[in-house]
Amino acid sequence: MEKREFLYEGKAKKVWTTDDPSVYVVEYKNSLTAFNALKKDSIEGKGRLNNLISSVLFEHLGKKGVPTHFISRIDDLQQLVRKVTIIPIEVVVRNITTGTLCKRLGVEEGKVLPRPLVELYLKDDALGDPIITEDHALLFGWSTQEQLNKIKEITLKVNSLLSEYFLGLGIILVDFKLEFGTDTEDNLLLADEISPDTCRFWDRDTKNRLDKDRFRKDLGDVLGAYEEIWRRVSSAEAL
Ligand code: C5P
Repeated sequence: MEKREFLYEGKAKKVWTTDDPSVYVVEYKNSLTAFNALKKDSIEGKGRLNNLISSVLFEHLGKKGVPTHFISRIDDLQQLVRKVTIIPIEVVVRNITTGTLCKRLGVEEGKVLPRPLVELYLKDDALGDPIITEDHALLFGWSTQEQLNKIKEITLKVNSLLSEYFLGLGIILVDFKLEFGTDTEDNLLLADEISPDTCRFWDRDTKNRLDKDRFRKDLGDVLGAYEEIWRRVSSAEAL
């Protein structure tokens, strides 16, 4: 597979076309952003860790029957993925209350929810990714009812699979964000990335934050936390 034309640069990744029109190359960047890119930094080694972690998680989900865009990891920074048209909705799942949920609604931090809470946000940097309802998504044509039903079903399945997977590594999956897209044959695929940039991971015993909250809240040792997630994920893979 040959890398061809540079297509797009986002906050955390770059995308290239390949000689296969249905396949893209994604490169994970070291840059780190928070609060709609108001806070920015670059951490050497972060892109590699997110690529490694995300690749293993996509592979794990794929084996469990979740349709994903992931094809294979090329090297430390790059993956081959299926070309998708991204649905402009960020799907957030929460198992424990924290983050913008607490800010927005004034609810207590750290409360275990009786069931997973699924939220939809419009993927629009200029608007600061506002929260939306299913009706907004349907009425403004950002998604179809059929897609939303499938998105919700896959999202809850991913939550169950990853919660169990991480609990086995002594990690609580607090919340995370997913993105979906449609491939050239209109199949709905899980896309983007699954990494400490897009998930909140708490150590089960110490409740240490092992994710981007270390950057958001200036807790220090951001890379160390990402390395710890990779250490546990890779040790599970080696079994
Ligand atoms: O900030 P908030 O509490 O809404 O984030 C919920 C979850 O979604 C967190 O795991 C966060 O990392 C993720 N998220 C993301 N990208 C965004 C917004 C949230 O990965 N644009």
